[in-house]
Amino acid sequence: MLKVHNLSKNYGSRSVLNDVSFNVKEGEVIGLVGENGAGKSTLLQILATLQRPTSGSITLYDKSYENKKKLRKEIGFVPQDIAIWDEFTVEENMVFFEKLAWGNKTKDQLKKLCLDMKLDRWKEPVTSLSGGMKRKLNIAISLIHDPNLLLLDEPTVGIDLKSRKEIGNYLQRLASDKGKIILYTSHDMDEIITLCDRIVCIGEDPFYQDLLQKAGKSIIPV
Ligand SMILES: Nc1ncnc2c1ncn2[C@@H]1O[C@H](COP(=O)(O)OP(=O)(O)O)[C@@H](O)[C@H]1O
Ligand SMILES: [Mg+2]
Repeated sequence: MLKVHNLSKNYGSRSVLNDVSFNVKEGEVIGLVGENGAGKSTLLQILATLQRPTSGSITLYDKSYENKKKLRKEIGFVPQDIAIWDEFTVEENMVFFEKLAWGNKTKDQLKKLCLDMKLDRWKEPVTSLSGGMKRKLNIAISLIHDPNLLLLDEPTVGIDLKSRKEIGNYLQRLASDKGKIILYTSHDMDEIITLCDRIVCIGEDPFYQDLLQKAGKSIIPV
């Protein structure tokens, strides 16, 4: 269980997150929606231990975020900007990042991780991959150490529909088959409605809430 309790974040005098509380169970896919600048990335970065909240607390499997080092092994984070080595092949990227991660994965296991997401260009350099394939590689890298909490910042933005569907299906399977906790942001409301069990609407704008209510989705009040 991920528990977020009374979380607030200010940048200087500007309040971005204000008293946000919610819990997420194993196997749930949670969508974060809200207008640009609402604080979605900030919330993901705090959950990824990359930023500290101004106040409030977070626990993952009852472990406090105060002890960041231990927690990082449980967390996979896919930032909005793709961070992979362009000149390297898919294989070289996976092997490189495996050495940085805690897991001791074999090459076969790394390859399977890619294939599970329909990323089948093992020997190809990243420069020859489509945007969707690069995204998949970025996600595969974040999963090398087998984290239980997976956080993704707009993983499906700007890529082709087929890759979007494949990534969506894959995230759903990770949650339902492996019990991972998944939180991700997207502006594609159809995708959010299809993929997510529950949705957090961040910010004041009632637009997202209205849309989701009409679609009969469960909204997490924050
Ligand atoms: N490191 C930072 N320092 C100061 N302000 C920031 C920082 N990161 C984000 N912000 C501001 O906080 C607000 C929320 O940003 P962000 O979390 O990126 O929103 P979203 O992902 O929903 O678009 C924005 O107004 C942004 O300019
Ligand atoms: Mg953002």
